[in-house]
Amino acid sequence: MQPINLSACLRQFSEHWSPRIIASLNDQEVKLAKFQGAFDWHAHDDEDELFLVVHGEFTMEFRDRSVVLREGELIVVPRGVEHRPVAEQECHVLLFEPAGIVNTGNAIESDKTNPATWLEGLAPPSAPS
Ligand code: NI
Repeated sequence: MQPINLSACLRQFSEHWSPRIIASLNDQEVKLAKFQGAFDWHAHDDEDELFLVVHGEFTMEFRDRSVVLREGELIVVPRGVEHRPVAEQECHVLLFEPAGIVNTGNAIESDKTNPATWLEGLAPPSAPS
């Protein structure tokens, strides 16, 4: 059990829309992602998703409105709700959601479909031996 420094984790990767897992618990995962530009419209039939802005800001577009999220703010997108994150400038986001979720949801696979991978040097919790 060691502290996980978000800034240090964010320095380890640069790809956009390519989430990295930094912690897991109870079948949920904590991830970091870098947003830039517009993602694909999508929904997740069975998963709610939490987005917390670590640096920068982005807009979460819904079909009927848009919500601007600034540093230190979070939003939970309920399952089944179509959404599209858009970041005019690079934005760093912490996600909390069930393990195995597909970032592009039920959408057809696209160039933005990226399975989350563990950030190098981090691993799932293990029971004491
Ligand atoms: Ni989503």
